[in-house]
Amino acid sequence: MTTPLSARTEQETRALDLRCGVPQILMCPPDFYGIEYEINPWMSRDQQADHAVATRQWSDLRALLEATGAKTLLMEPVAGLPDLVFTANAAMIYRDQAVLARFRYPERRGEEAYDETWLQARGFRVHRLEPGVYFEGAGDALFCGDTLVAGYRIRSDVRGHQQIGSMFGCRAIPLELVNPHYYHLDTCFCPLAPGRAIYFPGAFDEYGRRALAQAVDELIEVSEEEARRFACNAVVVGNTVLTNTGCPKMHAALTNRGFVCRETPLDEFVKAGGSAKCLTLRLDGEEAAGWKTAAHGPQ
Ligand code: ARG
Repeated sequence: MTTPLSARTEQETRALDLRCGVPQILMCPPDFYGIEYEINPWMSRDQQADHAVATRQWSDLRALLEATGAKTLLMEPVAGLPDLVFTANAAMIYRDQAVLARFRYPERRGEEAYDETWLQARGFRVHRLEPGVYFEGAGDALFCGDTLVAGYRIRSDVRGHQQIGSMFGCRAIPLELVNPHYYHLDTCFCPLAPGRAIYFPGAFDEYGRRALAQAVDELIEVSEEEARRFACNAVVVGNTVLTNTGCPKMHAALTNRGFVCRETPLDEFVKAGGSAKCLTLRLDGEEAAGWKTAAHGPQ
């Protein structure tokens, strides 16, 4: 039996120790999760999520993350914010700074103030982008080494990524997302380590594919069939890669390269257009972030 949520969240209302070396992952229990509106092609109000199954799937994902050595921190769920479970969208993390999301769809905008309060209470310096610039957090902005790989058009705006690049003094590679099913970058691209990532080519145009190939040394292709199972929506903790079920080819490709792959069913969340990665926000920095390796690696 885990500690009740209220006790846990209270205990954790203090600055996080981001340099303790323990992977720290923000999640939000699916108490109020459901398909209440349709803002991407996966969502249909006629295809409701089963609450009991969703709760089990979410808890299994959490247990798996904890089993890999990660610590999960929980955000209190809020009635009327069904997509708050997708904490990847809350913000983009860079060291002790967080660039807060500004959601494109009004349906999700209620999450912003809530995410801001949570992050500030844990010691993050929270930045907001200029009014009118949409940005959907780690869903669309992922470090691969020193490069910020950033998806735009369907949700985030290219201007936001450019602002973030100059804010943190890093190279940002904006990639246009051209396939509505892969509306966030983390549905079609996942950095594994500096210079190494998986991706689904069908989510990008020719120009984007070329830009990606120039920015990342080793790109591992995911098939359309497995991309549809959210193979790219993977959580990387150390050497372990966690995904939804139904991604055997990608798992084999990564196992060959020395990764340990784990799967857990997340179909109830696929109904909202999300999977493992969307349900998490890495608070101490993504595994593949160059700045993180520098901070935590050998001195
Ligand atoms: N229903 C949510 C939306 O459309 C799903 C978000 C998935 N999150 C992600 N990081 N890809 O906004």
